[in-house]
Amino acid sequence: MLSILIFFFCFPSVVFSISNCKKIDLPLTAVGPESSTFDSWGQGPYTAISDGRVVKYNGPGVGYVDYVITSPFRSKRECDGTNNPELWPKCGRPIGIAFYFLKNQLFIADAYRGLLVAGPNERLATQIATSAEGLPFKFLDGLDVDQLTGNVYFTDASSVYTLRQFAQAVAANDASGRLLKYDPKTGQVTVLQRGLSGAAGVAVSLDSSYVLVTEYIANRIQKFWLRGPKANTSEILVTLEGRPDNIKRTPAGNFLVAVTIQNASTQTIVATAVTINGVGNIRQSVSLGPPYDNTSISEVLKFRHSYYIGSLMADFLGVCN
Ligand SMILES: *[C@@H]1O[C@H](CO)[C@@H](O)[C@H](O)[C@H]1NC(C)=O
Ligand SMILES: *[C@@H]1O[C@H](CO)[C@@H](O)[C@H](O)[C@H]1NC(C)=O
Ligand SMILES: *[C@@H]1O[C@H](CO)[C@@H](O)[C@H](O)[C@H]1NC(C)=O
Repeated sequence: MLSILIFFFCFPSVVFSISNCKKIDLPLTAVGPESSTFDSWGQGPYTAISDGRVVKYNGPGVGYVDYVITSPFRSKRECDGTNNPELWPKCGRPIGIAFYFLKNQLFIADAYRGLLVAGPNERLATQIATSAEGLPFKFLDGLDVDQLTGNVYFTDASSVYTLRQFAQAVAANDASGRLLKYDPKTGQVTVLQRGLSGAAGVAVSLDSSYVLVTEYIANRIQKFWLRGPKANTSEILVTLEGRPDNIKRTPAGNFLVAVTIQNASTQTIVATAVTINGVGNIRQSVSLGPPYDNTSISEVLKFRHSYYIGSLMADFLGVCN
């Protein structure tokens, strides 16, 4: 009891509930707002969807507008609204997105088209890299931009299995994922970590001294040190009850992880928002209610007073308070 009181007394800012969720319906027949982000003016959310578009939400009444695409082979007629995995290599399938505020550039991890960037007025993103150390990317997934250095951290979930084949990666306990860094000053992509088991989300710390990377298949989060005495080394930070997907830094410097927990007794999936701090203590774990009952989620992003919920299945972006 005392520890609970101390917990609430010391960390009131991390205590939250996610109860009242509204749906922002996606453009017709598209699904899968895997991740969301906001630009330097706080506009958005921008979200990456199944038909290859990154769309920007301009508020009620206006809805979504097209922001950028990742594939020069994409046609609106064939791709808009699709959720056909066979079209992903052609239409693109952006997954992780984040802005570099200083230049208003949107960096994109596309599951089939590699790492890309789009300037403020560009409608087609420019491909930056499709491989590292001679090994092609197979399924780019999470992405974060360090606003202090401009470095971009991103993950290749697997070097063997694509997004479409990801259930097989899970069944095979694949451990061929990588954590990568793109340095815009040199144009170089470097491999920070290899042998990750379902490298999904990535988030850089507020002071740029480390990045956290989730391993979806291994149910855990690793910490990779960028600076200080442990620079270039990694450690297992925390093991979770379920599968972690994206990890997002909160304004206060903690991290929100979207975790899918299988409830063995009820045979249902419990979408859970887990808050951890930089040393791996779990500060809070909140099960999401409707419309996320028995549904997996990919992201929980805190922006101002709301939580934006990503999912590969939903035909809406969730906004919860
Ligand atoms: C970490 O690796 C980078 C790139 O390989 C290198 O430049 C740097 O000196 C290394 N730092 C330490 C402390 O080993
Ligand atoms: C699983 O379901 C049981 C029965 O409803 C419940 O008591 C338990 O808390 C659930 N576990 C999780 C992790 O949600
Ligand atoms: C939960 O979803 C799974 C499929 O994802 C389905 O088989 C199961 O019947 C659902 N359970 C409930 C209680 O809705």
